[in-house]
Amino acid sequence: MPCWLLSALILSIFINGVLAKVWTYKQADIFPRSNEFKIRVSGQSVDVVQFKDYDYAHFSMDGPVDIEVEKVNNNDVGVFSISPLKLDINSKATKKGTKITWNMKEPHYLIVRVDGRKRLVILADPPEDKPFTANSAGVRNVKASPYKADSTGKTYATEAIQKAIEDATKAGGGVVYVPAGVYKCGTIIVRPNVHLYLEGGSVLQYTGDPNVYAQWWRKYNRPYTFFLRTSMWSSNVKITGRGTVWGDGKATFGEKEKLGVTVMAPMVTKNFLFDGPIIKEGSFWHFHVINSKDVSIRNAKVLGRFDMGENDGFDITESQNVHIKRAVAIVWDDSFSTKAYDPGHNNTDVFNRIEGPAMPVKNVLIEDTLAWTGLYGWKVGQGANVAQSNILFRDGVVYDCSRAVGVERKYGPGHFSNITWQNIDVEHVSVTVGSKRCWAMFHGVDVGQGRGTTAGMRVEKVHLYDTGTTPVLIEGPNTGDGLISDVLFKDVYVKSLGRQAHTAAEAKLTANKNVKNIRLAYSDSGSKTIQVVA
Ligand SMILES: *[C@@H]1O[C@H](CO)[C@@H](O)[C@H](O)[C@H]1NC(C)=O
Ligand SMILES: *[C@@H]1O[C@H](CO)[C@@H](O)[C@H](O)[C@H]1NC(C)=O
Repeated sequence: MPCWLLSALILSIFINGVLAKVWTYKQADIFPRSNEFKIRVSGQSVDVVQFKDYDYAHFSMDGPVDIEVEKVNNNDVGVFSISPLKLDINSKATKKGTKITWNMKEPHYLIVRVDGRKRLVILADPPEDKPFTANSAGVRNVKASPYKADSTGKTYATEAIQKAIEDATKAGGGVVYVPAGVYKCGTIIVRPNVHLYLEGGSVLQYTGDPNVYAQWWRKYNRPYTFFLRTSMWSSNVKITGRGTVWGDGKATFGEKEKLGVTVMAPMVTKNFLFDGPIIKEGSFWHFHVINSKDVSIRNAKVLGRFDMGENDGFDITESQNVHIKRAVAIVWDDSFSTKAYDPGHNNTDVFNRIEGPAMPVKNVLIEDTLAWTGLYGWKVGQGANVAQSNILFRDGVVYDCSRAVGVERKYGPGHFSNITWQNIDVEHVSVTVGSKRCWAMFHGVDVGQGRGTTAGMRVEKVHLYDTGTTPVLIEGPNTGDGLISDVLFKDVYVKSLGRQAHTAAEAKLTANKNVKNIRLAYSDSGSKTIQVVA
């Protein structure tokens, strides 16, 4: 065999995945297994967890893999679709009998629809930067002596885990290692310089017991709390691994005396890193970044339910320099949103006990994200007590929603400016809420808490597989303060046209009240900008 052929062969073996490594995680037995799907990744079987509106499977990979999805119960595969559609897996995947298979070179978060079944969510992550084991030097293993956390979920492990965190922070920092197992916990507070590591297969489980959790705020006549949070005024906190933080939201919220929960909250913290764990089933905003600075969130997976309200995915409130990269948020309420309330202020009781002054939302980059929601994919608002500026949502996919992008301002006089949505796909707009089912919505309502302007938005390089059924709503609560102005829609590709929108009607843009300077630009047949509203 000529030498070039041999090296080509080796290269092709490499590219086709024989050498790729796959990490699977044995999911805790408290999570029932899917009775709809099985998955094998390069021959290795991956646990598929049964959930309410979809089932899910999680693994990591460092190169090309072959994925095989099998319909359980011996039904042949009929019609299937794999999102994000832009990856074009549909045309590469093959079906045979009860199975669909495809090769995947990079890790992605996928939503698979097979015939009429509930969806299957595949969560493929890159390898961990720094996986720890029980034997890694210097780690504090919560299961080992002197902490001895109960990893069976029978008794609360709060004290053991918290003690390991206190010891680590006192020692100037260190890794607190949570091995696979189920840890029933009260609120866990991660302190300065502590790296909380949740091994794949580990679960921090919330119970909502009012004797265990402190009430932080009330809403809908219910008490609420935080489950996993940082201490306030902390810095250099890390939370990584491939475990699950579980709010058990439906069950706990179903019982009136129990507390509703935000599952994960970096809170008045600086230089925070989150990489990898699943944040599952909160009964309030799942992942809430509050008054923090220099925040990096990667490979983050919020898995919520559609039969619950106010369960946003990621909320960035009053924070600066926040970077979310590679994230998925499957929730009824908004998937990703930035907000500016006012801590210590009674506008929204959530912030009653948050220390420090009101801070603007500034320099937020949310990229490579997947949203599946009943409301907004990526939204700025409703909180507007303080300014919000320099916010960029890019390279994202909305799988389904009732509005994909937009601004909704309601509370406060803060000004919004310089907000961009760039290179985004909108696959379905199938949900109607408040008689709206539109791909974009820029909207302000005046509830008597002050009005600010909303100026300088770009929505560019959009691929609309679905434009919804109602027109894009752009409407400010008033002229002057309250005006919504300077919105540019650029290169809006509409699949049903097979080209970019060339008229306001094609992009479903209409002139509404209290708006100024709304434009539509296209570049696929000459370059032209249309003034939709002067
Ligand atoms: C918020 O409301 C509580 C209870 O109604 C009250 O005690 C507190 O002073 C209020 N705080 C502010 C900043 O208005
Ligand atoms: C607008 O925001 C982007 C980030 O999204 C930033 O790079 C740019 O400098 C900002 N522009 C102004 C004028 O502040």
